[in-house]
Amino acid sequence: MRKSILLVLSIIGTVIIEQVSGKFLSYHEHNKHTEITDYNSHSNIVREPKLHNYKMVQFNGSDIVNVPDSFDWRQKGAISPVKNQGQMGQASIYTAVDSIESAHFIKAGKLLSLSEEQVEDCDQQAESVIDVYNYASTHALELAQDYGSIRSQGACHYDPAKGVVEVKKVVKVKPNDSEELKKAVTQSPVTVVINAGTMEFQTYQGGIFNPKNCPAEVDHTLLVVGYGKEGDQGYWICKNTWGNSWGESGYIRIAMTDGPGVCGINLYGAYPQTD
Ligand SMILES: *[C@@H]1O[C@H](CO)[C@@H](O)[C@H](O)[C@H]1NC(C)=O
Ligand SMILES: *[C@@H]1O[C@H](CO)[C@@H](O)[C@H](O)[C@H]1NC(C)=O
Repeated sequence: MRKSILLVLSIIGTVIIEQVSGKFLSYHEHNKHTEITDYNSHSNIVREPKLHNYKMVQFNGSDIVNVPDSFDWRQKGAISPVKNQGQMGQASIYTAVDSIESAHFIKAGKLLSLSEEQVEDCDQQAESVIDVYNYASTHALELAQDYGSIRSQGACHYDPAKGVVEVKKVVKVKPNDSEELKKAVTQSPVTVVINAGTMEFQTYQGGIFNPKNCPAEVDHTLLVVGYGKEGDQGYWICKNTWGNSWGESGYIRIAMTDGPGVCGINLYGAYPQTD
């Protein structure tokens, strides 16, 4: 009797996990080997360095004092709605464009919806957020509505006359330093890379994410839009690109820790500045 109940429960559990994760696993599998994450050195070793037209600078938070206990760019209107990269989409492109939208908001006070499709079509080698910044520093991004939302399977139809936002500067955050990352987040939403390969991440539904075993083998990109604290546990508020139904309305709160951080989140923070 007891055994059969357990068996039924375990079958139900398996089915649920497969249903929930199947959808996300496929995104992950698609991205696993394509998201080169070491700012630019790694990806530039394996292929021709790309043209870019911005200054790369190191974030220096030493002059930022009185860092607030919690911070949330969503409350300032700086964050666009959660996107869904879909089966073929690449998280790094979606997250990089999210970060460019936020940077433009911070600079110009207006939250625009910029075109991921333009990057997908016109820069097919884009793998990391830095690749996207490279592209967007020499090709201003069009509005999503101008470029068009139908995925054209690689046929680039960029119209420079319609380009509206260009990347002017890229700021890298010191690795393995959660205090520095925190300060950077008070200046701008920051893109980070993490290991999204755990079942816990794939099936995350809410709460502060802190899996026991998550090596810093990073393969997925998120946008840190803020941070907070629950009891003694600090957390990062991160925007994912898997639609609203994943996690906390498309977001995940990841435990704030020192060193490389949970799943490598402290390793490769960066944010763009735009015109
Ligand atoms: C950061 O800036 C301070 C002064 O504002 C300077 O003393 C320090 O050397 C800088 N640190 C780095 C790593 O550039
Ligand atoms: C950050 O931490 C990782 C893991 O401990 C280490 O491999 C890497 O060298 C560190 N990076 C820096 C710049 O300290």
